[in-house]
Amino acid sequence: MTDHATAVAHPNIALVKYWGKRDAAMSLPATGSLSMTLDVFPTRTTVTVDAGLAADVLELDGRVLEGTPLDRVARFLDLVRELAGDDRRARVATTNAVPTGAGLASSASGFAALAVAASAAYGLDLSPRDLSRLARRGSGSASRSIVSGVAVWHAGDGDETSFAEPTEAPDMAMVIATVEEREKPISSRAAMARTAETSPFYPAWVSDTSATLERMVDACAAHDLDLVGRIAETNALRMHALIQSCDPPIRYLTAASLAVLDRVEALRADGTLAYSTIDAGPNVVVLCAPADAERIAASLADVASTVVARPGPGAHLVEDDA
Ligand code: ADP
Ligand code: DP6
Ligand code: CO
Repeated sequence: MTDHATAVAHPNIALVKYWGKRDAAMSLPATGSLSMTLDVFPTRTTVTVDAGLAADVLELDGRVLEGTPLDRVARFLDLVRELAGDDRRARVATTNAVPTGAGLASSASGFAALAVAASAAYGLDLSPRDLSRLARRGSGSASRSIVSGVAVWHAGDGDETSFAEPTEAPDMAMVIATVEEREKPISSRAAMARTAETSPFYPAWVSDTSATLERMVDACAAHDLDLVGRIAETNALRMHALIQSCDPPIRYLTAASLAVLDRVEALRADGTLAYSTIDAGPNVVVLCAPADAERIAASLADVASTVVARPGPGAHLVEDDA
């Protein structure tokens, strides 16, 4: 007997970043964070439970993967199997529209889609809150891709209370400025562990980011897009300063990233509301008002390949094609 389900999820880009865990086994973050789920770059994942399989199988973009990516998926499916009381293995077939591991949140769309598809395939009926908690165990940032639009992921007191939910925010757009599609040399997971272990600035990052999140939630509730952008850019550059302070150091920003950051500064000097944020990779995301997005994208076309994104849907089941 086989059971299957297909889900779609989109990446999310944090405006207050998650960078550091207080409990790696439970994927509990050192601080809360806030993000926008995109309406571009969907991940589509089909999970087929199959009593005939001796081990889980992962196929990403048409290639069968083993090693770390498969282990991460298999450990995640173990959690789903435990919840469902079902020890059958599964085949996971997934496609990413976003480049994988390039700092554009493929782990977020990937594990949010897997949480929704796997829980349905194993017969679980989870609330949005429990789906967010489950997705968090696959990749912290995936907790937020369960949610449509702008989400806050609460640091929480423990597993029960560390989940993402929608929060009030101004209407906004993001221009995704891709300068490099290749996989980062060091994963977010490994880099954030090294940061906590070796950066003397890590305690300051944790206390500053907690305070920053409170200011960001207020700025969002006040629909003050300029303040939202300023807080987001400061928080992102602080995260990259922190990452660069590891031993051995890690630097995700490249000359091409800096060229985009310079352009965004120039746009601001000319009176356009535009602020940069950058995840763990070289690619820049420009936060702006929806009416300015196409013009900003056109102005960056010679330094990056651009896509305009708006708030998108949370992870959801779709017509099954297994
Ligand atoms: P990113 O910046 O893209 O989120 P990460 O280092 O956080 O980069 O995570 C990349 C890893 O996430 C991949 O190496 C893979 O293990 C996992 N991943 C990405 N997409 C998927 C997917 N669709 N299904 C399962 N796992 C995925
Ligand atoms: C820079 O969620 O990819 O994108 O929990 O180890 O899977 P794991 O890490 P991940 O880290 C995301 C880091 C970030 C910031 C953010 O999305 O908040
Ligand atoms: Co990630």
